[in-house]
Amino acid sequence: MEGNGKRKSAKAAGQTLAGQSGFPVQSIREVFGYLRRYRDQVFVLKIDDHLMSKPLFSLLIKDIVLLQKIGVRVILVPGAKHSIDKVLKTYRVNSPMKDEVRITTEEAMPLVKLGASNVTNVVLSLLTENGANGVVGNWVRARAMGVLNGLDYQHTGRVEKVDVALINNMLDDRLIPIVPNIGWNLVGRDYNLSSSELAVAIAKALRATKLFFIGVDTGIPVVPDCDFADAGEKASGYFSNLDLEEGNILLRDFSHSLKAEHRELVSLAMDACAAGVDRVHFIDGSLDGILLQEVFSSAGHGTMFYANQYDKIRPAKASDIPEILRIMQPYVDDGVLIQRSADTLAQELDNFAVYKIDTTLHGCAALKIYPDKSAELYAVVVDSGFTGQGTGRKIISYLLDKARKAGVKTVFLLTTQTSDFFMRNGFREAGLSVMPPERQAEYNPDRNSRVLAVTF
Ligand SMILES: CC(C)(COP(=O)(O)OP(=O)(O)OC[C@H]1O[C@@H](n2cnc3c(N)ncnc32)[C@H](O)[C@@H]1OP(=O)(O)O)[C@@H](O)C(=O)NCCC(=O)NCCS
Repeated sequence: MEGNGKRKSAKAAGQTLAGQSGFPVQSIREVFGYLRRYRDQVFVLKIDDHLMSKPLFSLLIKDIVLLQKIGVRVILVPGAKHSIDKVLKTYRVNSPMKDEVRITTEEAMPLVKLGASNVTNVVLSLLTENGANGVVGNWVRARAMGVLNGLDYQHTGRVEKVDVALINNMLDDRLIPIVPNIGWNLVGRDYNLSSSELAVAIAKALRATKLFFIGVDTGIPVVPDCDFADAGEKASGYFSNLDLEEGNILLRDFSHSLKAEHRELVSLAMDACAAGVDRVHFIDGSLDGILLQEVFSSAGHGTMFYANQYDKIRPAKASDIPEILRIMQPYVDDGVLIQRSADTLAQELDNFAVYKIDTTLHGCAALKIYPDKSAELYAVVVDSGFTGQGTGRKIISYLLDKARKAGVKTVFLLTTQTSDFFMRNGFREAGLSVMPPERQAEYNPDRNSRVLAVTF
């Protein structure tokens, strides 16, 4: 359930792409679910050049090519820091750093360009080796970083503008654009850019669905005393998910506990998400298959950053009841849902959440929490005029988040005809025993509903 605000770690989810035993049916179903969703979507991948010396780097490129072959519009931004350091060292040219930013002198600039081009050449040849056509280009206008606090950053620059139309032309031609960290201003002066900033600027300009920072780190380390890290995250040592609010809290209250590089990544990710990039992922590219797992599996491995996806969802109000009854009725007539009266809905109103755009109700669902800290998800309905837009998935993940925050351990549901939908969203077959005794007593054997559950 990639769209779910909080993902389980792969270990907690108990699955890998290789599967635990036998044929990994569920993983394959999950992959097919994502295939359609990601076709023609833009993914921007910033790749740390440290990875290029790792044994599995060529496999990472192979996986990137796979993404492109299934229709993802892939843009690569190779980091070049280590390559540039190496070239500068070879030519014994000093180019000092200030707060992780290189001061690019006149003398260093040609070597910076050489370091950047070494990296793009490696990526280009690996893409070719794997049957894809990469193209290196100048699609970014840059400007000087200038003089900050009296310090002249010389040829160090910032991204001024991304040429979206030109990049889109490359993508339309099924090419993989490779964007080096070098940009020019309008009069041809060259600048050394931060690849991370560049990746964010491109992701924002092209309204990317996903932005990846692929490095040699697992993600953003959990900071001590931070109360939004769950038990799994504390155990793994890394945040699995962060939203904009949590990112703000991290930068505001825990800045001193973050390394400078992580502070920078968190603020870049927040910048990207706030500008409309759906997801920003930080993953360790030295692990085999990590990129494909992150894209095609609900099990998260690094840190995923996301904007608040629940802005259209809120607890139900009494004034919503007529609309809830209206969208339920066709499904009640078909025997998919049980009939509920306005009175019943009024009594259970606190359990209900609605997905509403302007004044139109698109969907609803309810969550009943039992004293034993299990909870039932029920009355999941999306108006037939608005199905297939992710509404069902979002309401479920909103209520699962609510359950998790309330300390619920297991969420179960009963369904007669919709089990596949729920299984795609993380639920698994479970027995009656997953329900509390009072709910088991109400189970109607004539309806013979299947019981599914998800455990946190
Ligand atoms: C099931 C339901 C909530 C899905 O809502 P939705 O907003 O369309 O769901 P999403 O957009 O998040 O997901 C759509 C995907 O789920 C699939 N899906 C929808 N209903 C399904 C079902 N009954 N079984 C299996 N898959 C289903 C769609 O085919 C679609 O697949 P795609 O992404 O490959 O195109 C909605 O169809 C509905 O209200 N159904 C009737 C009520 C119902 O069965 N509720 C459950 C009672 S327990």
